[in-house]
Amino acid sequence: MSPQTSISKLARPEIVAMKPYSSARSEAPDEGVLLNANESPWSLLPDAQLNRYPEPQPQQLVSRLASLYQIEREQLLVTRGSDEGIDLLTRVFCRAGEDAILQCTPAFGMYRIAAQTQGVDVVSIPRLLADNFSMNTDKLLETLAGDTPIKLVFLTTPNNPTGDSIDKATLLKILQTANGSALVVVDEAYAEFSSKASFCSLVAEYNNLVVLRTLSKAWAGAGLRCGSVIAQHEVIDLLGRIIAPYPLASPVIELAERLLAPEILSLQQQQLLALANNKQRLIKILKAQNYITDIWPGDANFILIRLEDASGLMHYCRGHNIILRAFNNEPMLQGCIRISVGSDSDLDSLETALNTWKTT
Ligand SMILES: Cc1ncc(COP(=O)(O)O)c(C=O)c1O
Repeated sequence: MSPQTSISKLARPEIVAMKPYSSARSEAPDEGVLLNANESPWSLLPDAQLNRYPEPQPQQLVSRLASLYQIEREQLLVTRGSDEGIDLLTRVFCRAGEDAILQCTPAFGMYRIAAQTQGVDVVSIPRLLADNFSMNTDKLLETLAGDTPIKLVFLTTPNNPTGDSIDKATLLKILQTANGSALVVVDEAYAEFSSKASFCSLVAEYNNLVVLRTLSKAWAGAGLRCGSVIAQHEVIDLLGRIIAPYPLASPVIELAERLLAPEILSLQQQQLLALANNKQRLIKILKAQNYITDIWPGDANFILIRLEDASGLMHYCRGHNIILRAFNNEPMLQGCIRISVGSDSDLDSLETALNTWKTT
């Protein structure tokens, strides 16, 4: 393998040159007589200390996340969900009007939004429908080795909404081809639902690998808005230059720490098991409907299906207060509906609706 280039060379030069903002809380500890941040000395709510700014990167939370993902603390930046991680990466590494990101469509919609917000091109490599939406790796590698100045390659495993996963050999090829020109961002939002190993452990070896994790899915914390960017310290340091001074609100920090306390782990594992069982039940329910032509169970907490009259089914379900997800703007997903794995009673309602559609 050729030697790894410094990642700072891939970042926008003005971000590297910029003197980052230094917040009051990052300059001094939050103890003593605090007269450095123009805060109120009093709290208005007796049970919540909201008058003080929170820690910019809360130490205890960062430690808990680092041990959860089995990486070093300095390899992790805690963000407002993975959405913020995607945005930070795009703003640090992509020059407006010059650079591009690469994604394998159908893909999670925020990669494109972050790129377009930053004014950079989106190169989309369509997945192979005939091969269960698998990535077109040959085309991806060829594009990456070509002339387009791609700075970020967004990969998702398991992918949303197709549910397929990336194998290690494929990722290593992409990392090697991207070495010196692009960062490879592996979005593992749904990793906990899959039996495949996370790629976090490769971060120490590859300085152009970034892994995104979130508490939104398997940690039942979508309302928290708490995600992690995992990469070598050089990348974390660059992102830290532009992140908001206090990305996580104090109540969020407190609740995230509670969520990751050791006593919650067994409950979380039970919920994951229950979801796995409910997924098997959902597959059975779907297989029993003869109007469903394709089912992609995937490795995550949702299932993708195809049928002729997807909008009819969406409409019928909505009439029964069941909300599913269709993808009208994605040509490859015409007729497809994504169904999240829900609770037992969610599945009861869905089963009744699916069994009665067309017969009522
Ligand atoms: C693949 C993928 N990445 C990231 C996210 C956003 O995660 P977060 O809630 O942490 O912002 C989602 C949300 O659905 C997703 O599907």
